[in-house]
Amino acid sequence: MSSSLERIIAYHQETKHQPNRMARGPGRMDWANQPDPFRRYEGARGITLDRLGFEGISARLRPYPLNGKNLSRFFFESLALSGRKAFAGSEWTLRVNPSSGNLHPTECYLLAGGVEGLDLPLGVYHYQPKNHSLELIAGINEESWKSLHLPSGAVLLIFTSIYWRESWKYGARAFRYCMLDLGHALAAAGESARCLGWEVALLDDLGSDDLTRILRSGREEIEDGLSGKEHPDVMLALFSDGRVHRMMESLEPFAELETEPFLLSPNTLSPSVVPWQEIDMVSEATRKPFTQDVYLRSHSKADGMLSEVPEDEATAAKEKSRHLSQDPSEEYCHLLRRRRSAQGMDGRTVMPLESFQSILKAILPDRSKPGLPWRPQINPVLFIHRVEDIERGLYILLRDGGAKEEIRNAMDPDFLWERPSRMSAGVELYQLAQGDARLAARESSCRQDIASDGCFAAAMISRFEEPLQKYGSWFYSRLYWECGLIGQALYLSSEAAGFQGCGIGCFFDDVVHRMLGLSGLWHQDLYHFTVGRALIDSRLVDLPAYGSPKG
Ligand SMILES: Cc1cc2nc3c(=O)[nH]c(=O)nc-3n(C[C@H](O)[C@H](O)[C@H](O)COP(=O)(O)O)c2cc1C
Repeated sequence: MSSSLERIIAYHQETKHQPNRMARGPGRMDWANQPDPFRRYEGARGITLDRLGFEGISARLRPYPLNGKNLSRFFFESLALSGRKAFAGSEWTLRVNPSSGNLHPTECYLLAGGVEGLDLPLGVYHYQPKNHSLELIAGINEESWKSLHLPSGAVLLIFTSIYWRESWKYGARAFRYCMLDLGHALAAAGESARCLGWEVALLDDLGSDDLTRILRSGREEIEDGLSGKEHPDVMLALFSDGRVHRMMESLEPFAELETEPFLLSPNTLSPSVVPWQEIDMVSEATRKPFTQDVYLRSHSKADGMLSEVPEDEATAAKEKSRHLSQDPSEEYCHLLRRRRSAQGMDGRTVMPLESFQSILKAILPDRSKPGLPWRPQINPVLFIHRVEDIERGLYILLRDGGAKEEIRNAMDPDFLWERPSRMSAGVELYQLAQGDARLAARESSCRQDIASDGCFAAAMISRFEEPLQKYGSWFYSRLYWECGLIGQALYLSSEAAGFQGCGIGCFFDDVVHRMLGLSGLWHQDLYHFTVGRALIDSRLVDLPAYGSPKG
């Protein structure tokens, strides 16, 4: 086993919460030292975006052209503020993308130029959710931009994480939360793009050093990925012509993109930074090298979710109709900014079977966007409490049908593996055990009532040791991204069905493993989630996101 893989496993084991020993945390909340949830670049040229959502968009007009108005819409419906809450003299902001503890470690940068309707010189821009604007932080060399041969109307995004925002509250386990949050943010970007008829692709060949170099902008902060610093995670391409383009032979020109830093200072986030050696270690061990087509080389294309621009007309037409059939409805698009985490569940509503099926379908791999290029690794175990026509108990939803035997052999041999009779074809749900699973859901989710008071809860069981060995230790982050993507799909599909969801990052990992009969590290539980009818906390006052009634 490589030394970086050993370090990943050491981090993973050390940051498990146990019923009698929580992972190492700060012990108390140092409010005076709380990191600012908003990054700013002092002196950067700011470009104000329109506070424009999806009102009036029509599925018939997709794909929408890339211009200032639609780029504003894209950010407004994915990463912007979506509301403010007030209670007992304090006030806080909420965003379209959710985040553990509402601490928001994820930042986003846009690489673009010459977008119609925006005075946007070719450059690297930081997206600023606080006032929904772009900050120009570096120029891009025109020749090197051209060498990317991006299709017309395409722009690039780079996502980064600031671990300190989460470790301030959660300590050593915070790296996991940052990666889950990133998965949610990627999905939020993917859904906003889909509503405009745009496509997204994860350009995951690029390595950590490449992204660091592109974003360096004269700042040391981003040069390493240690606990207090900003760490680049991944590049995403946005295609406004509505087609997923398989990017050239190789992404090498992307790695060589020349940016010209302006000497701007990012704001200081807190008076001091508390170092977490576990996070420094995992951050180093997950640095990704440049890889070429690593997922394609490891699997046949059918395994993954990567689509290519079709070669001939017939396939193109087929591809188009496939996309149309998966197109989000206008009604669904209007939910993106309305999504909220449930803070409590009513403990009695029974979910109609049809709603349950639509939620499960939304988390099957070909529906959860952006399409991840690797074989699905996460198969959620469900604690079903109150769903019409489904006996309560413990279930598993196979997102990767090909993994059935492997998972079955790894789990408790007494499990039933019976399919409920009323599930629609294509949804591979199996009952593992009968009975009331509320206590198990609550106890394993750090004793949080939301896990037992909803209609069902989920524990996202991931294939673990094998993909880490196959791809490398850097794939550890990707396992959490996949969980975050599923979580975001659960949030949105629950809202669409008239229910609410809530991510659950606090859970007792090994309690779940024991319950399922899983031993060793072949499979691990990486994230919990709950879905049900939310209780409304009437003490909280809702305020518009940007201080005007239009919000
Ligand atoms: C990765 C992740 C983990 C979370 N873990 C918990 C949790 O353990 N318990 C809880 O009550 N809420 C949890 N939440 C919900 C957050 O507290 C919530 O997203 C945040 O307060 C922002 O509110 P919003 O989702 O309504 O925007 C989690 C959210 C995410 C994305």
